[in-house]
Amino acid sequence: MSDRSGPALSRRALLAGGAGLALAASLPPSARAHEGSRGAEFRLLAAPGEAALAGASRPATPVWAYNGAVPGPGIRVRQGERVRVLVENRLPEETTVHWHGLRVPNPMDGVPHLTQAPIRPGESFTYEFACEDAGTFWYHPHQRSHAQVGQGLSGPFIVEEREPYPVDRDVTWMLGDWRLLKDGSISDDFGNLHDVSHAGRIGNTVTVNGAVAQAFEVRRGERIRLRLVNAANARIFGLEFEGHAPWIVALDGHPVEPHAPEGGRVVIGPAMRVDLVIDMTGLPGGRFKITDAFYKGLEYRLLDLAYASERLREPRETAVLPLRANPVREPDLSSAQRHDVVLAGGMMGTMAGAMVHGEMTDVRAMLRQGLVWAMNGVAATGHVHEPMATLAHGSSHILAIKNETEWWHPMHLHGHTFRVLGRDSVPTRRREWQDTVLVAPRERVEIAFLADNPGDWMFHCHVLEHQAGGMMGSIRVA
Ligand code: C2O
Ligand code: CU
Repeated sequence: MSDRSGPALSRRALLAGGAGLALAASLPPSARAHEGSRGAEFRLLAAPGEAALAGASRPATPVWAYNGAVPGPGIRVRQGERVRVLVENRLPEETTVHWHGLRVPNPMDGVPHLTQAPIRPGESFTYEFACEDAGTFWYHPHQRSHAQVGQGLSGPFIVEEREPYPVDRDVTWMLGDWRLLKDGSISDDFGNLHDVSHAGRIGNTVTVNGAVAQAFEVRRGERIRLRLVNAANARIFGLEFEGHAPWIVALDGHPVEPHAPEGGRVVIGPAMRVDLVIDMTGLPGGRFKITDAFYKGLEYRLLDLAYASERLREPRETAVLPLRANPVREPDLSSAQRHDVVLAGGMMGTMAGAMVHGEMTDVRAMLRQGLVWAMNGVAATGHVHEPMATLAHGSSHILAIKNETEWWHPMHLHGHTFRVLGRDSVPTRRREWQDTVLVAPRERVEIAFLADNPGDWMFHCHVLEHQAGGMMGSIRVA
């Protein structure tokens, strides 16, 4: 059973060389090239590079990076702004960029073969779209994602609200998880059957903004908006903030009524984002742990909040305000069509076989293709296949996702934002808007959305090894 949690984290071992009191994880640099006549222009160059993932005192890690940085540069725009991003591919293989959570027109969604031809080595592609929703999003390749993201390709995409939200600092933490070898390189065992059929690729080194971090410096009285992005292939985070009371104000970029995390733990599945507002109520010189306690018995310290000797002010007494809702259109539940989605497979699973390329295949034949997961009895070998459903443009839908496996699955729908209606028949209290919903082993989750964005959209597990292992499909809106 220990396999379910993946290998233990050896971050402490990595730190043994000791960089002393380390970095305040900093915001990634901006990629903004200039203000063009057609909106904000950015350039992303995907290429092999190096990064100090384990800290400056450890050997550098060969990575694949956008603009030479892991994570890639922050793309930061204002709500409503149009964006053009020129992506140049200098990797040794094809790639694309997907704008995770942004409701973009289908040809801009970055899914190889489905919405565009992959960008070949040496070639480029310009993405162009308007950012209708404010919030915390991110970008990553959709070509061989498990290996490309796992080697460093991802970055934050922040859309600022039209009216500034009242905090003292707006901080983004991209959480990364890497499987590093002793020489500092990333283990190249991508897509091995063990990872694919269990919890996915869970690494041994967790980074904040691309480096193992020990401390983040804060001042008494600060109110900080902390945008957490889980860019790990497979690791789920469950963060606990010693001595502090964070408020959740947005999930997957979309505002939610400010509330304290359940059980004091902020849970973030792969690809998901959580925006927190935290009042720094500690005393100057104080130190408080942020612990990741998601996997039982494998708790570790992510980093400390380290108080400077100067205070900013006495902590604010004012309430944490809700963010303004995004222009997402409500699904009409009275007319919504229901669709069952059954997730099956994995180790300890009960998959008898599944349709592959439209043919019933036995489990051994599937394993030979690295396929161990299926949705509604279909295991996908690539991005193009018969849609799971064709939905009339403008109609409303409920997906009842039943997880018949022993594993967690963060299920992501492209091009739309859905409401999470209920879990195991219990209605959710806040009916949160999300683009990725974490489904626990054996759980049944209902989501609803208005099919208002025409095109073929991926619906898949964001444990990238599960996606590669067949847990992927598409939904057509026409
Ligand atoms: Cu973030 Cu289809 O992915
Ligand atoms: Cu999964």
